[in-house]
Amino acid sequence: MNNMKSKKILILTGAGISAESGIDTFRAAGGLWENHRVEDVATPEGFAKDPKLVHRFYNLRRSALKTVKPNPAHIALAKLETSLKASGGQLTLVTQNVDDLHERGGAQDVIHMHGILTSMLCGICENRWEHIQDASTEMICPKCYVKGACRPDIVWFGEMPYAMHVIEERLAACDLFVSIGTSGAVYPAAGFVQMANACGKTTLELNLEHSQGSHFFDESRLGPAGTLVPQWVDEILGA
Ligand code: OAD
Repeated sequence: MNNMKSKKILILTGAGISAESGIDTFRAAGGLWENHRVEDVATPEGFAKDPKLVHRFYNLRRSALKTVKPNPAHIALAKLETSLKASGGQLTLVTQNVDDLHERGGAQDVIHMHGILTSMLCGICENRWEHIQDASTEMICPKCYVKGACRPDIVWFGEMPYAMHVIEERLAACDLFVSIGTSGAVYPAAGFVQMANACGKTTLELNLEHSQGSHFFDESRLGPAGTLVPQWVDEILGA
């Protein structure tokens, strides 16, 4: 898989890429997320039932971002993006993560298919805006001025991930699909490797252990992302 410079690569990342930065993965928590049931804090129904609890939960996650920093895997992907761009190629970086560590690692163009903690969404007019402070039920949407319908800009269970059409187009146009630090348990992201296979793409997985979809990949490399990703990026860039 050497010599991919000036080619098109689509990378999907999951919680495993941020694990070495100190953010817990989902499956490691045994169906609970920081001691909360996923249904209570990651569904529209949970928000309708107890919006104050949901705001409190995401306020803690948002402020926890200040205590973590990007690791060598995030930084290596930013380097790959810059190099590919400079040589006429393209990196499409799609993440399921709601942290901002790819951006803080230097990535310019990240698709947050499950939303991001540093943004809010109006449940009435669907306006999205950057917000890095605590949120509350008292917030007013800066576009439609409705109070009380502002929610974290996170794609909850039962909702459609963002930018699916762009991701599908880029998958169809890429030369190589790489999955990093994701368990392959949550669709539609878990199905990207099968889409890539159906289009005849080369596929590579970098993960701590075999994921649920490992057998769909041409190659699986096992180990921590902070080591595997910089090694692989150096290979690609021919260092
Ligand atoms: P998971 O917690 O399901 O999977 C994390 C994967 O990362 C596992 O396969 C781990 O083995 C692997 N891993 C852990 N530490 C690693 C390391 N240091 N280096 C490399 N790999 C490591 O997280 P996701 O697959 O991201 O959705 O979960 C997908 C979605 O499920 C999330 O985006 C979230 C969740 O419900 C929403 O919030 C909508």
